[in-house]
This record gives sequence, structure tokens and C-alpha cells, in this order.
Amino acid sequence: MKIKSANFVMSNSDVSKCPSEPLPEYAFIGRSNVGKSSLINMLMDRKHLAKTSGRPGKTQLINHFKVNDNWFLVDLPGYGYARVSKKDKNIFQKYITNYFEQRRQLVCSFVLVDIRHEPQKVDMEFMEWLGENGIPFCIIFTKADKLKPKAIQNQVESYLQKMVNGIWEEAPQHFITSSSNSSGRDEVLNFIEEINLQFFKENAV
Ligand code: GTP
Ligand code: MG
Repeated sequence: MKIKSANFVMSNSDVSKCPSEPLPEYAFIGRSNVGKSSLINMLMDRKHLAKTSGRPGKTQLINHFKVNDNWFLVDLPGYGYARVSKKDKNIFQKYITNYFEQRRQLVCSFVLVDIRHEPQKVDMEFMEWLGENGIPFCIIFTKADKLKPKAIQNQVESYLQKMVNGIWEEAPQHFITSSSNSSGRDEVLNFIEEINLQFFKENAV
């Protein structure tokens, strides 16, 4: 898919105030600092569309971006960020949960995990919760530029195998990306394009 336009639409913490247009929507979620905002900029080929930072906790609201005038991409705050207070964490948690439970045009969520890490409890629990709530998701491994090809393969295989050894009947679809060298960009964008086609076919009037 070619990106012809990508515009920031709005930020808020209330899912009922998110854009009402019935366009297909994709959310990027994962632990703080995993690279959600950087990945969005990489996919859109725009350096400063979503705000990024070396310090965790940069993204604090539900941020909508409209792409090619016919789909939305959503940048969310990270979960599992230890430095915000417990009270703030609960508020974050609540509006993220509301977003996933209530956002009807959400067609797929991308759960981002750092390719260098073993499966983390907070990610496993979050994916389990998505599964229980029937919310479709894929895994996006980030920061692949930090590993050599062989190590990438080993990490991904072992990560997915641990999911299958756990509660999952089969491993979710996954993508391997780097925001530094744009690897995985075409794969993710083509995947979105296919779902969009399906969405518009099903919702044609
Ligand atoms: P929060 O908004 O705080 O939840 O973080 P985030 O998940 O949006 O992460 P962000 O995109 O702000 O990136 C966090 C840090 O990781 C920044 O210093 C980025 O430059 C770095 N980073 C993100 N993606 C990559 C990548 O693919 N490769 C490398 N080497 N660094 C990356
Ligand atoms: Mg961010």
C-alpha cells in the first residue's frame, strides 16, 4: 500500500469521543518504550507524526491518525510503565480497556514486543485478555536491527513456541520490524490493505 496522506486527527482519553466515522481502525499497543510511536512513523514514512522518546511513558492518550483518507491508525500509551503512580496506572488501564472493549471499528490490534526479550508476563496476560474478548490481534516484533538474522529467527521461534506451549492453540500471525531500517514495512502495510479491502467489501452500501 502506498501512503498518500497521514494526518493527526485527535487525542483523548475517552473512547466515546474518538472519531465517529465508520472506517477500519488498527491499534498499536505494548509495553512502554517498545517502539509503538516509532513504528507508526516508520509505516507512515514521517519522522515526527507520532511523538517518540527514549524515556518510557511518552504517549499518554488515545491518538488517532487518518491514513489515505480511509482508515485510522491509533497510537496508545504503553502498559507496564513503572514510573507512573498507581493511581495514574489505573486510569490509563481503564481507558485502554474501554477503548478495546468499545471501539467497534477496531479491526485488528498489533501487540508490539521487543524482539530481544523473552515473553513477559504483562504481554502474555494482555494477549490472553484480547483472546478472551474476541479482539483480533497480531504480534509485531520490534527493534530487529538490534539482532543478527540468526538470532532474530531463534528469538521469534522460541517466543511463538512458548505461546503454543501455553494457552494458545496456534501462534498468532506475526511481523518482524525495525523502525531504524524500515524492515517489515511492506508486510505490515500489505496486511492492513488486505483487511481494508475485506472491510469495504463487507460494508459496501
Ligand atoms: P511510550 O509512548 O512511552 O509507550 O513508548 P513507545 O512504545 O511509543 O516507544 P517509542 O516509539 O517512543 O520508542 C522508544 C525508544 O525506542 C526510542 O528511543 C526509539 O528511538 C527506540 N526505538 C523504537 N523503535 C526502534 C527500532 O526499531 N530500533 C531501534 N534501534 N530503536 C528503536
Ligand atoms: Mg509512544
